[in-house]
Amino acid sequence: MKVLIVGSGGREHSLAWRISQSSNLTRLWVAAGNAGTAALGENLSIRSNDVDGLVEAAQKTKTDLVIVGPEAPLALGLVDRLADLGISVFGPSRAAAQIEASKGFALDLMKETGVPCPEFHIFTDQTSALDHLKSHQGPVVVKADGLAAGKGVLLCQNSEQGAAAVRECMSARAFGEAGDTVVLEEYLSGPEVSVFAFCDGENLSPLVAACDYKRLEDGNHGPNTGGMGSFAQPDFWNAELAAQVEQTIMRPVLQAMAERGSPYKGVLYAGLMLTGAGFKVLEFNCRLGDPETQVVMPLLVSDPLELMLACAQGDLGQTQVQWETKSYVGVVMVSGGYPNQYETGFEISGLDTDTPEDTMVFHSGTQLGDGGASGLPVTAGGRVLTVVGGGNSIESARERAYGRLKQISFKNARWRRDIGAVANQGAAQAAG
Ligand code: AMP
Ligand code: GLY
Repeated sequence: MKVLIVGSGGREHSLAWRISQSSNLTRLWVAAGNAGTAALGENLSIRSNDVDGLVEAAQKTKTDLVIVGPEAPLALGLVDRLADLGISVFGPSRAAAQIEASKGFALDLMKETGVPCPEFHIFTDQTSALDHLKSHQGPVVVKADGLAAGKGVLLCQNSEQGAAAVRECMSARAFGEAGDTVVLEEYLSGPEVSVFAFCDGENLSPLVAACDYKRLEDGNHGPNTGGMGSFAQPDFWNAELAAQVEQTIMRPVLQAMAERGSPYKGVLYAGLMLTGAGFKVLEFNCRLGDPETQVVMPLLVSDPLELMLACAQGDLGQTQVQWETKSYVGVVMVSGGYPNQYETGFEISGLDTDTPEDTMVFHSGTQLGDGGASGLPVTAGGRVLTVVGGGNSIESARERAYGRLKQISFKNARWRRDIGAVANQGAAQAAG
């Protein structure tokens, strides 16, 4: 199969890495890719929101399967465009991607189908949102309805902070049109887990769970980031919880989407919080997570291309999907200054040393240096690498990941020391 992966982060490098092991693969392109994907296939310099450019590339290369990593091209309708041309594509249609692209859409769907979620109110004008807050007591979560690159969630301790957050969205328009509609949500607490189901519109794979760390600093302090680390699968996750999430969350959503005429294909990602009253859905995403994919791909036993093609073609019922029972931990190395301003262009050394057993390095913001493939890659973004280790427990996987990380360096590199540490595994994500 000739395959085109859309995206340029660690998620896409780990997809490319796992797909490269498939005997079904004949050619691989990645748009736009990074220095890591350049070693596995051919990078195409097309941005992931350039839908016309991507459609043209898929046609020109006679790609058999397009795999879409990030949410933006999904929300822009890339899948619909490719499907119209008869090109198989892994990912949801524009209508199905609404599950991530509009928080209000997802919450209404959950309410109608009885899927557990926080209590919520949706507002399209600021006065009504502020009026609502006047009678509100205690903490509240304010969310921009649309896609805001992971920044549109404001956790507020009281209604004054809530009002400021509403104004930030609706009159200051800090998130552009994504904040023209806001959602006020009940403030929940508890450990968080990201759960992934591969879907073909009707059927779904066995679930796989991972946790990510969003805060910049050890102990879950500092600002939110795109993700500083991850591990899979969490110790608290078991067959019983998986069955519960499948029956009460994933299947009802799949069925409701199909009934609405927008069957869900691709990965359905449920961001869950384990509250005193059981699991509640904080968000759905229409794609795999980053940096969760970097610890989930190594767990995939089944052929990745058979799996993704089956999702695209509605054949998942005929496909065996199996996850390994090992553990993986991923530590993200970032540029000093991230998530605010940072410098790039620094050489990364230690990537081609003798690698310890069961370790992988997935690239995010990297590019080939001046020497091309023969020189050292250089940093090109905030999140630079995800260093992954595997083992029979989170502990041993964590040791391997940090052992490999010690071999790698670039100027101003930063990383968290506590990814997968016992003390904060369960509650790793409680602080967001
Ligand atoms: P989201 O982008 O919806 O995943 O939200 C980002 C983070 O905000 C989540 O990972 C949670 O830590 C936190 N969060 C979102 N919704 C809520 C909520 N209703 N109550 C408490 N925390 C939340
Ligand atoms: N790791 C969170 C996300 O991919 O949205």
